[in-house]
Formats: sequence, C-alpha cells, structure tokens
Amino acid sequence: METHLEDLFPPGTEEHELLLKVDLDRLPRHIAVIMDGNGRWAQQRGLPRVQGHNAGSAAVREIVEASARLGIGFLTLYAFSSENWKRPRYEVGRLWRLLREYLGKEDGLLVENDLRLKVIGRREGIPALVLKEIERVETLTRENRHMTLVVALNYSGRDEIIDAVRRIMAEGRISAAGLDEKAFAGHLSTAGIPDPDLLVRTSGEMRVSNFLLWQIAYTEIFVTPVLWPDFRRRHLLEAILEFQKRDRRFGDVRAAAKSPRGRT
Ligand code: IPE
Ligand code: IPE
Ligand code: MG
Repeated sequence: METHLEDLFPPGTEEHELLLKVDLDRLPRHIAVIMDGNGRWAQQRGLPRVQGHNAGSAAVREIVEASARLGIGFLTLYAFSSENWKRPRYEVGRLWRLLREYLGKEDGLLVENDLRLKVIGRREGIPALVLKEIERVETLTRENRHMTLVVALNYSGRDEIIDAVRRIMAEGRISAAGLDEKAFAGHLSTAGIPDPDLLVRTSGEMRVSNFLLWQIAYTEIFVTPVLWPDFRRRHLLEAILEFQKRDRRFGDVRAAAKSPRGRT
C-alpha cells in the first residue's frame, strides 16, 4: 500500500482492512454525493435540524480529504438544491451561513491538498456574502490540479438543462442538426468534467432529487442507510468496493472498460 495513505487509513484499523481490498488502479474517476439525512440525524438525538447540518460539515471535511488522498479526480457534493429554498427561513439562513463559514475556513485545506473548487448551480439567488467567498476560493484554487471539488449550490438538474438550451439559442452558433451530445454537454455547468462514475446517496432515499440529471445517464448508484453526519472514510471505501464489483456494460453485452461510445 502506498505510504501516503497510512496516516488517514492507519494499519490495524477497519479502514485499513477495507483499503487493502480496494483496487487503487480502478478507482472511480468522479464520485458524486447526495449528502442527505442531516435533519434526521439531529432529530434522532433530540436536537434541532440545524445541528445536523453542523455535524455534516465534519463529514464533508473527512470525505474531501480522503477522496483527494485516494486519488479521486473529481468529487461533486450536492449541498443546496433549488428546492431547498422551500425550507423554513431559519434553516435556509443557517445552511448558507455554514457554507460561507466552510469556504472561509477550509480554503487552507484546499490549497494544501492542491484542490480546485468549482461551484455549479444558478449564481443569481445565492446570498451575496456567500457568492463573494465562492469567487474568492475559486480564484485562489484555479490552478490546482490534484482533485476538483465540485459543490452544487442553488442547483437543479432541470434548471441546468434549461440554462444550457438558453445559452445555445442565444449564441446561435449551433444549428438544430449540428447539436449533438458533446456540444450540448459543453454548455452545461459541468463542461470539461467527466460524468460521475459513482453516485452515492446517504440516508437510504432511493431518488436523485434533481441532481446531475444529464450527467448520471450511466452512473453506478450506491444508496447507503448511513446518515450524512455519520458518513466516514470507511463508508467511502465501502462505496468504492461496491462500485468495483459492478459490471458496467453501457448497453453492450459484456463489461466494457469505456463509457458510452468510447467517450470518457
Ligand atoms: C441534507 O440533509 C442536507 C441538505 C439537503 C441541505 P437534510 O436536511 O435533507 O436531512 P433530512 O433528509 O431532513 O434528514
Ligand atoms: C437533496 O436532499 C439535496 C441535497 C442533498 C442538497 P433533499 O433532502 O433536499 O431531497 P428530498 O427532499 O429528500 O428529495
Ligand atoms: Mg433530506
């Protein structure tokens, strides 16, 4: 095993045992996560829902660092959906404050680990102070290459598709016949980012909740009952191990090494 992994997955621990089973040459290149269950985690403890969001930020820190260390190229975290505005005003306010604090505090971790931040979602609507932090950290980490951390904020997969169509029409450079998957994907907010290989959803919910609708066409889905604040390195390894057991056929009759039509 590579020694740089041993401080995060120390010998003698369950994490280390799991890591030994992972094929480090066949890691998912892109993992997307629907971080769900913060509210239930808090409710189970008789705490207000917002305490669950606080506890969830520790899981974010751990999973970002572990993913980077393992060599995952892209990690996408669904942190605030366009539908989450329906929640009580107090909870919405606390969520945005937490996100702002996360960016304010974790910029050092992103720089140290050579991570690039990219935020997807509609920027109009994001509170101004949060937007300022997003822009600061995106600029600060722009040249980083080890891993791209994509954070979905004020995000809706349907909005993203509509925005892409609007942009294509406004540009007027692509004819109806000239529009293909590649040209279309190039107008999504994830342009240049490979489609997720693995989608993890915590808290047992079997739905995609308007996340990356275009991009998950052939993504392997892993749902765990673990609530997001309890999600730790070993759960990430379990998800990766399950992914490595899957037979990805992309419509063919046998396992293929490549994504649909040979695209990456
Ligand atoms: C996920 O946890 C965090 C966000 C959606 C922002 P929830 O807050 O949805 O937790 P549950 O699903 O109510 O338990
Ligand atoms: C999805 O979780 C959104 C995020 C994790 C940010 P929700 O808790 O909002 O999804 P639903 O309401 O259960 O579908
Ligand atoms: Mg939820």
